[in-house]
Amino acid sequence: MPFAAHTYTLIFLGKCGLAFPPAPALCSRKSQVDCSESPPWNTTEPSFRKTTKGTAEQILYPINILRNVAIESATTHYVLPSDIELYPSDNLAPMFIDMVLRHPMLMNAEPPKAFVVSIYEVKEGTEPPRRKSELVEMLRNETALPFHKTICPTCHHVPKAQEWTNEAPRDPEQLNVFHVAQREGDFKNWEPIFIGTRFDPPYEETLTWEGQKDKRTQMYALCVLGYRFLILDNAFLVHKPGIKNYTIDTWRDGLVAEQNHYISTFLTSRLVSIYGQKEECTI
Ligand SMILES: *[C@@H]1O[C@H](CO)[C@@H](O)[C@H](O)[C@H]1NC(C)=O
Ligand SMILES: *[C@@H]1O[C@H](CO)[C@@H](O)[C@H](O)[C@H]1NC(C)=O
Ligand SMILES: *[C@@H]1O[C@H](CO)[C@@H](O)[C@H](O)[C@H]1NC(C)=O
Repeated sequence: MPFAAHTYTLIFLGKCGLAFPPAPALCSRKSQVDCSESPPWNTTEPSFRKTTKGTAEQILYPINILRNVAIESATTHYVLPSDIELYPSDNLAPMFIDMVLRHPMLMNAEPPKAFVVSIYEVKEGTEPPRRKSELVEMLRNETALPFHKTICPTCHHVPKAQEWTNEAPRDPEQLNVFHVAQREGDFKNWEPIFIGTRFDPPYEETLTWEGQKDKRTQMYALCVLGYRFLILDNAFLVHKPGIKNYTIDTWRDGLVAEQNHYISTFLTSRLVSIYGQKEECTI
């Protein structure tokens, strides 16, 4: 069994495009690819998908389809459905495997578990920290911040975040569980990135990245199914350097409103019929 394998899902944008709902009419077999053209990812745009904004062939980023494809293609039992711009701390995968081998009860299916990896962002021009001790120093001098602190402080508000920062890992070379939480109360909107297994409920494929809350429906399912969220003491993810600030984007705000409406008028009842309902679980 490989201890760690990486699956990257690449999207190639062509005439067929990637649209929701899918538009087969756009996908003609006669489409020709001009190989003399510069490849679509060869761009200095910070995020090339933004260049499609407002054009006739507008493509929304089908992030959950990509997450599910990557999970289904994984050759390992445990999976970390992360984003390409999130860099894991050193040795995350081997340290995780070492942890579950030392504590085999962590492999029990009951109660179901999600191993949470906290996310941070760092200032432009800084070197992303690789070890917790480096991250903690950067949090102290404010060159690092909890993820999206300036955009949506509650979205990534992590239970016991302050204690996590103040407490050194039990063993700097090992991974252990720092705290076991549930997605309830103050954390009912929590959308963590976590190490799970290929058998966790899938991400909702009709949601787009632009519409936001793309992980919330899956989190609702985990909440109803009684998942425990085990926060890891010595592992984290750091976003590509650069602090994101809130900027007004009426195009995106429109998509967010549309997706919120779709979630509340349609998806919620579907999720309730699939997973059931618990008063303390929200989408
Ligand atoms: C990428 O873009 C640069 C600048 O537009 C160009 O000079 C270069 O040839 C391109 N590379 C490829 C592989 O097309
Ligand atoms: C903040 O801390 C990091 C890690 O110790 C260090 O590399 C960096 O120079 C510090 N930056 C400032 C502005 O103090
Ligand atoms: C975000 O705001 C901070 C503080 O005001 C600033 O230093 C930083 O350059 C801004 N980042 C971007 C990407 O505009």
